[in-house]
Amino acid sequence: MSKQVLGFTKALSEIADALNSSLAAGEKLRLMIKVAARALGVRGCSLMLLDAQKKRLIHAASHGLSERYLRKGFLESEKSLSEILEGKAIHIPDVLNDPRIQFQELAEQEHISSILGVPVRIRGEVVGTLRIYNRMKRDFNSGEEGFLNTVANLVGVVLETGRIGDAGEQLLESETRVVAKPAPLASQLKPVAFAHPSEEEFAHLLDFYQIEWLYEPRSFELRWDGKGSEMFTPDFYLPVLDLYIEMTTMKPELAREKNRKVRRLRELYPGVNIKLLARRDYDRLIAKYGHGPLAGTKTRGVGRVFFSAAQIQRRVRQLAKEISKDYEGRHVVLVGVLRGVFCFMADLMRYLTVPADVDFMSISYYGVGRSKAVHVTKDLDLNLEGRHVLLVEDIVDTGMTLSFVLGYLKERNPASLAVCTLLDKRVRRLAEVKLAYVGFEIPDEFLVGYGLDYQEEYRNLPFIALLSEEKPGAEQDTGQSA
Ligand code: IMP
Ligand code: MG
Repeated sequence: MSKQVLGFTKALSEIADALNSSLAAGEKLRLMIKVAARALGVRGCSLMLLDAQKKRLIHAASHGLSERYLRKGFLESEKSLSEILEGKAIHIPDVLNDPRIQFQELAEQEHISSILGVPVRIRGEVVGTLRIYNRMKRDFNSGEEGFLNTVANLVGVVLETGRIGDAGEQLLESETRVVAKPAPLASQLKPVAFAHPSEEEFAHLLDFYQIEWLYEPRSFELRWDGKGSEMFTPDFYLPVLDLYIEMTTMKPELAREKNRKVRRLRELYPGVNIKLLARRDYDRLIAKYGHGPLAGTKTRGVGRVFFSAAQIQRRVRQLAKEISKDYEGRHVVLVGVLRGVFCFMADLMRYLTVPADVDFMSISYYGVGRSKAVHVTKDLDLNLEGRHVLLVEDIVDTGMTLSFVLGYLKERNPASLAVCTLLDKRVRRLAEVKLAYVGFEIPDEFLVGYGLDYQEEYRNLPFIALLSEEKPGAEQDTGQSA
């Protein structure tokens, strides 16, 4: 037997061991990729999965590629996509002179000269690609392609079995049984053995806002010395936001440890964007949708006043002045998302000195009919085509609502589109959105009044105040009541 064939045999036996082990699906995939790269004697190997729209390839696991390359990687998709979707192998013997590669410069910096990619399938359907990257220009022979295809087949098996978990079954249950077309690809691929129910809930929330996510797609090496290495695997990666999210639990020791790891990760991988979502913050996040332990928190009414009626009016007048100046000579359409914004909208429009039309829309809320994605429940009445649209918001928190609404408005082909928000809870932002006008930046506190509600209460307060929570035994705010 040739040395290469012996190498392949040894690699497949290592992979078979891994498949039959108790390793988590993600660990299996990482190991398979590493073993394949070694057996083929190449610099790197990566598994890229197609997103739900089959428009992008997302790096799900990789070996031997730099952070820079991985971050660019999923942008590479468009040109090589059609070949993958057709289930063909892709041979790129000379990366620098191949039109299918969009980031030649990056490949050069990465010392990648040739690539071989094969399709990854689940029950015959192409779901992604397995690729190897070589330092030298070369073509790969049929033996090498055959070996990579075998590994890709086994990767398909891991992906397929990896999704059979509690959450997977729940997913099937929540969909109607008469599913003519398969469920969105990405949700099929999501390895859904969540370590904690809050992670599952968070995944539901992301699904609702149609934000693509991957669960634990990558491990980062934090320390490597003779004795071994320390790895850190963030819980979520949101490709569109290029953001990793690590959720922490209530236990202070564990949270401290996580904090340390996240700090270390930021030091070692400065290009990686990671956010720590502490348990308490998470509970507050979903309490807003009426879920989780804080949802039923008894409130004793209104706490400290954050912005008095006079302060609000002064600021709204300033904003209107700025807007009037910027939109001089244009006829603006103010669009509001009901219902929190109605007070702000009413005041803002009366202070404007440019002509302004007004329209409103409503969208569905997470927590009501949970399997459904966010959608428009009351559409706009005006035609926005060619109009100068200013989206007016009461508050931007995670930014998920806003990014959905902006996407919706963009499809209406306005001449311009900008955002004005009264309140900006920037510290909680997950989806980055550009805000042209901001009334006040606020800390991570739940505020009510001037249109903002807590379970439909307090909208009619003329000022904006903190909602005081009843904490047994804790010191209370000297609440001012409405
Ligand atoms: P996002 O999608 O997380 O940015 O959520 C924005 C929506 O959450 C707002 O339109 C409000 O309905 C709600 N929200 C966020 N923070 C508060 C708050 O402090 N008081 C009242 N509603 C809030
Ligand atoms: Mg709103």
